[in-house]
Amino acid sequence: MNTEKNTILIKEDLSPAISKFVIYAPLIAAAAKAGQFIILRAGKTGERVPVTLVDWDADKGTITAIIQAIGKSTSMFNAMKQGDKFDTLAGPLGAPVEIKNYGCVAVVGGGVGIAEVYPIARALKQAGNKVISILGARSKELLILEKEMAGVSSETIACTDDGSHGQKGMVTDALKAVAENGEKIDAGFIIGPIPMMKFTAKLMSSLGIKPHASLNPIMLDGTGMCGCCRVVVGGQTKFACVDGPMFEAADIDFDNLILRTSEYKAEERASLEKFKEAGHKCKVGLH
Ligand SMILES: Cc1cc2nc3c(=O)[nH]c(=O)nc-3n(C[C@H](O)[C@H](O)[C@H](O)COP(=O)(O)OP(=O)(O)OC[C@H]3O[C@@H](n4cnc5c(N)ncnc54)[C@H](O)[C@@H]3O)c2cc1C
Ligand code: FES
Repeated sequence: MNTEKNTILIKEDLSPAISKFVIYAPLIAAAAKAGQFIILRAGKTGERVPVTLVDWDADKGTITAIIQAIGKSTSMFNAMKQGDKFDTLAGPLGAPVEIKNYGCVAVVGGGVGIAEVYPIARALKQAGNKVISILGARSKELLILEKEMAGVSSETIACTDDGSHGQKGMVTDALKAVAENGEKIDAGFIIGPIPMMKFTAKLMSSLGIKPHASLNPIMLDGTGMCGCCRVVVGGQTKFACVDGPMFEAADIDFDNLILRTSEYKAEERASLEKFKEAGHKCKVGLH
């Protein structure tokens, strides 16, 4: 095993745009808790990108991240191979999720959010909760980690928008059906695209379930210094990197989050196009 810090030991593609990385990072592996994240940089001049700690093994000194290529930096990550090294890997960052016995919990993951919610489902199950996991994706090939989620859940429901796997429809339809079948759910944990978190949190509140959602604003330092990750929760400004990323979701201003994450869309699109035009040939760290 390559025991140089930040080295990719295993790289596996889970879907056309989603890759799994097992990385040698013993100090982070020894300290990681469910709900925390790391900040990665592909090269010396690379952007700092927050990514969830999906799994960790303190004995082997490894951590696992699952990354969806949606822009330039995440595309650079997913072009990296086994044996490559991340220039920067900082963590564990963020507040761990409060893990306790709530009773029955609904864990809802959408897209790559399924990977992000996995360690939380596992910890909640270990704490004695009945865990009902609801997983959503646009289609079958984008629905990741179903087997792994089933291994840490009491019940798992898969949904796809196009009906190519599991139930046809959205996670909110599945959650409503579970509640209508008489299941009393005490708390909910949601990670996925912002609109999905907004509507799932709203539904949970209307069903008397206490919702929590993990927020994904743009981040820079990840340690509470720059203010870039500001979110509005219950009318108060919070820093997602240190106060979260998981917050009680009934009072989150999701529309403000959508506005803030869209602020640099034109620049992000131009940067990705330039990267694609270069045929992914720009070396890691050189822009
Ligand atoms: C705490 C935290 C944990 C995260 N965990 C994971 C993870 O485990 N796996 C994973 O694939 N991604 C995760 N993300 C999202 C990831 O950080 C972004 O996808 C990444 O920063 C995008 O960088 P980019 O340069 O590739 O794309 P950009 O060019 O920056 O953005 C491309 C598109 O993605 C949108 N976008 C930008 N930043 C974010 C963001 N933070 N979240 C969602 N959409 C964004 C933009 O609006 C734009 O439409 C996490 C984000 C946070 C804050
Ligand atoms: S990312 Fe800078 S304060 Fe949160």
